[in-house]
Amino acid sequence: MALGLKILKENTDYFGLDIGTSSIKVVQLRKSFGKQELISFGSVPVPEGVTQSDSAVDIKKLGKIVKDLVHSMHLVTKNAIVSLPGNSIFTTVVKMPKMPMAEIRKAVSYQAEQNVPLKISDVKIDWQIIGQAPDTGEISVMIIAAPIQKTQKMADIVEEAGLELDAIEIDAIATARALHANEPLYMIVDIGMFMTELSVVQNGVLTLTRTVPVGGQVITRAIAQNLGMELDQAEQFKIKFGIDQDKMEGKIFKAAKPVLNNLTEEIERSMKYYQDQYNQNISLIKITGGSSRLIGMQGFLSENLGVNVVYGNPWGMVVHKPDITNQLNQNATEFAVAVGLAMRGL
Ligand SMILES: Nc1ncnc2c1ncn2[C@@H]1O[C@H](COP(=O)(O)OP(=O)(O)OP(=O)(O)O)[C@@H](O)[C@H]1O
Ligand SMILES: [Mg+2]
Repeated sequence: MALGLKILKENTDYFGLDIGTSSIKVVQLRKSFGKQELISFGSVPVPEGVTQSDSAVDIKKLGKIVKDLVHSMHLVTKNAIVSLPGNSIFTTVVKMPKMPMAEIRKAVSYQAEQNVPLKISDVKIDWQIIGQAPDTGEISVMIIAAPIQKTQKMADIVEEAGLELDAIEIDAIATARALHANEPLYMIVDIGMFMTELSVVQNGVLTLTRTVPVGGQVITRAIAQNLGMELDQAEQFKIKFGIDQDKMEGKIFKAAKPVLNNLTEEIERSMKYYQDQYNQNISLIKITGGSSRLIGMQGFLSENLGVNVVYGNPWGMVVHKPDITNQLNQNATEFAVAVGLAMRGL
């Protein structure tokens, strides 16, 4: 899976570059005796609005931020793998009869023209087979369309940073790769700053991904509005107290509740959709993303959804020095995308 660009070269080191709304995260991994070894990781906050902007000035700014971060980490490789968030891509699943690969490729082009609601000359298309019916052999193919404007923006940022772009993929696939630990079926809920990505993974393959406009920023705003605070202060309260009902007389919980209910409903909707389409119940959710750290989030989701909700651990498959285990655990939620991207290269 890659949205165009070069074939991966035979390197031993790769780094994943996750350009998020609130921060940029970098993880460098090395292939060593068949294992994935952590060489370094780091993150840096991004000034508000810069990531969402497509202007040349902001692309330059982002390139400089990445360059400084990479420089401070003393990375020895320039081979970067980046990803696009769910809200800048379009995905659809189509069914087709079993056929040779070359035929599938042709059929995907045709299906993309029929199903992608964007001008086909303006997008890069990628696809993967996500399943096969045991009786008829009919295959399900996920088609991913990314606007060329968005892939070009990533290429420009990487170039500005003085790096080499090896591949572009999508957040959901990177996250699934990083968090997979052989469970047959689960949903990943990546709760970031502006959005949450809901992704279903079956037998290690991403089969459904959807983005909803709910994230940490919406929670902070709700707290600020309800409690009559500035955004900065609301953010501090959110991080310090979370949605613990015993704190601040439950006021933060009350303020955040409509947002959390909204998130719960969206998750339920996707779970139900999956159940209807594939006749399978999702009973495990892995949460990740900065906002999954909200104190009380895990409990709230498991109570309201009635399923097992656990924290996804992107460092599970990564070999590292024992003295940084605590530090990695503290940073686990933010690094899933970057870890998954770096793993792609290895
Ligand atoms: N301890 C914490 N408690 C509650 N919220 C937190 C905590 N730490 C970080 N956050 C929230 O996490 C969000 C940032 O998460 P993350 O780094 O996953 O976002 P991002 O990848 O930059 O954004 P996006 O994926 O939306 O583009 C912010 O809204 C921040 O308020
Ligand atoms: Mg993110």
